[in-house]
Amino acid sequence: MRKIAFILLTLLSLNARADEGMWVMGNISAKVDSVLHSMGLELTAEELYSTEQPSLNNAIIQLGGFCSGVVVSPDGLVFTNHHCGFGSIQDHSTTKHDYLKYGFFAKKFEDELPNEGLYVLFHIKTVDVTDLILGAVPQGATELEKDSAINATSFRLMQMVDYSGKGIESEVNPFYKGSKYMLSVYQRYDDVRLVYAPPQCLGKYGGDTDNWMWPRQTCDFSVFRIYADKDNNPAEYSKDNVPYHPVKYAHVSTQGYQDGSYAMTLGYPGSTDRYLSSYGIESTMRTTNDVRYQARGVKLDILNEAMRQSDALRIMYASKHASSSNYWKFSLGQNTALDNLKVIDEKQQLEKELMEWAAQDTVARGQYIGILDSLKTAYQQDYSSLYAYNLWVESFYGGSDILGFVVRNMMGAMNGRASGDFHEKVEKAYRDIDVPTDKKVFLALLKNYIEHVPGEQFLPQGLMHEVDSIWHGDYSLYVDNLYANSVFARPEEIKQVHDFSEAADDPMVTMAMDAITALYAVYGTSRGNESEYERLLGDGIREMNHDKEYYPDANFTMRLSYGLCKPIDFAPGTTGLKEEATNLITSPRSFLNKHEQNPDNLDFELIPQVYKWMKKGKFSPQYIDKRTGELPLCFLTTNDITGGNSGSGMFDGKGRVIGLAFDGNWEAMSGDLKFDNALQRCIGVDIRWVLSVMDDYSHAKRLIKELTLE
Ligand code: ARG
Repeated sequence: MRKIAFILLTLLSLNARADEGMWVMGNISAKVDSVLHSMGLELTAEELYSTEQPSLNNAIIQLGGFCSGVVVSPDGLVFTNHHCGFGSIQDHSTTKHDYLKYGFFAKKFEDELPNEGLYVLFHIKTVDVTDLILGAVPQGATELEKDSAINATSFRLMQMVDYSGKGIESEVNPFYKGSKYMLSVYQRYDDVRLVYAPPQCLGKYGGDTDNWMWPRQTCDFSVFRIYADKDNNPAEYSKDNVPYHPVKYAHVSTQGYQDGSYAMTLGYPGSTDRYLSSYGIESTMRTTNDVRYQARGVKLDILNEAMRQSDALRIMYASKHASSSNYWKFSLGQNTALDNLKVIDEKQQLEKELMEWAAQDTVARGQYIGILDSLKTAYQQDYSSLYAYNLWVESFYGGSDILGFVVRNMMGAMNGRASGDFHEKVEKAYRDIDVPTDKKVFLALLKNYIEHVPGEQFLPQGLMHEVDSIWHGDYSLYVDNLYANSVFARPEEIKQVHDFSEAADDPMVTMAMDAITALYAVYGTSRGNESEYERLLGDGIREMNHDKEYYPDANFTMRLSYGLCKPIDFAPGTTGLKEEATNLITSPRSFLNKHEQNPDNLDFELIPQVYKWMKKGKFSPQYIDKRTGELPLCFLTTNDITGGNSGSGMFDGKGRVIGLAFDGNWEAMSGDLKFDNALQRCIGVDIRWVLSVMDDYSHAKRLIKELTLE
């Protein structure tokens, strides 16, 4: 009896926190491994990750430094999200060939479109190097000395990697805010071509209205192919390159899943801060999220208006708009969920426990005793500078593209990092700039900065003086004059400039210098002690709960998240069929319902071809879900993911692709700072919808044939 009770208890406690965690591929403990298997994983540890034999690990890619993907064919075909391929799809789109609007399908290999700068990384291995790194830090080193010792050892370790294969790269990353270090080795391929994209009204269906929300009907996928040289090695783009043959590709399942089925994602989550203190959370809400939401709102209003004016502008700003609006809405969602779920209270409770625990042994745990006061003071002291910094970034770095371009070049030159050919950089940056729109953004964000920045010392002083003395306080006159006289506001002329220094006297450079000086004032005010105290707090909490296994925060290294296919228990559904909000899977009915219920919302507009196809509902029988009798669109799992995971393969217990992860849900958007076991979900597009769109809508048989369907 006792034994049964014990087993039941362990099972329960595993279940209670079974799904939180982004576990490091190559560093998965036996304990976590046994949880994976108890939940339904049928692959052995070696089939999942191995440095000796092909494993599922070899089929997972990091895409371009911002997304994830999965290799699904022996010819290097890659599935990722539509929003990950969005920039590439836009690059190839014109008003004549509007691949954004109508989609793209390369009918043969030669039609597949190369993408400058786009690359993939394959993960080869990750090893724990904590002892080597921290062992080389001298006793009593200051933070600065510590950093330089860590850098030196990291550099030496990276030099010891075997670079005999082509495209091998390595990096050392801190984990647990620098309490652990791991060395990861990758192989990089630089010729990655666009093969297929659905029309935007499928790939981005629901747009900003539905972004970060469930229930969802977005077919968020696109398809790329990796190319290699004749020896299957990485190579720069060349028309002589051939499709890459991967060490391992994933099979695709058309058998689906049900409530409670095992599901896991493998990919590259970018950043989380799950161990952040209550003070840190408060600071994030007020100095990052509020600021970003407000400032981006100003910018997005202008872009929205411009994009409605013409197809050319819509295409030109599509990608910039999407990435700005994604974290604009995120900022609101994260603050809302942090409030609703009372995350600060929860953190305070944990911090109180830590204080009680520390008080029990003031000698051994003495370093933790004053930690809360230190954190409080650190964040208080830096409130204005953190606020001003984020506002500065939104206004002068990520605001007007012209100003941002000049600021980045100047900062690069000042830091001795003026890399790359200036002419090429201009060519690239100015491809997607409409000067009148940019000017509107510049003016609006300048005024907004001046109105909201907390402290006169952070103002661009020279500019303020000029507006006062010459333009009688009228910012629009100042901006008119700036854009009339700067060569940077005349794309044709700037293309003639060979080097940044040729434009040293330009008024945009003067303005940028002024903005950079304001940034230095921000840096000068900041004390920057938060991270050191946050790290100490995290160490304390892990020490206090030493029997618990803590996973490290996301840092864009490869991770595994496990969990179950599981619906969410209530129906907040903003739009669409309410009853579907509590279903595990959405259906074509709810897709059409959203379209019909929102005739004036462009986010639900359909091109006639897609409308007809969905309405007709003639989908290949092999893609129909046996349980619902319908084509499955999107579904939910309890996998712990975040930005960067976009495009991650979602796998069943046999390691077969069942979907692609593309979003999180509004109720738990506090997730990057605190995982909510009851509410947090991963939203994926069911692979059968992906297949049906390629197969039934686009007749892309040649791609379907490459896959191994099970
Ligand atoms: N929220 C998603 C993510 O960050 C991106 C979804 C893109 N869709 C959109 N409507 N902007 O991973």
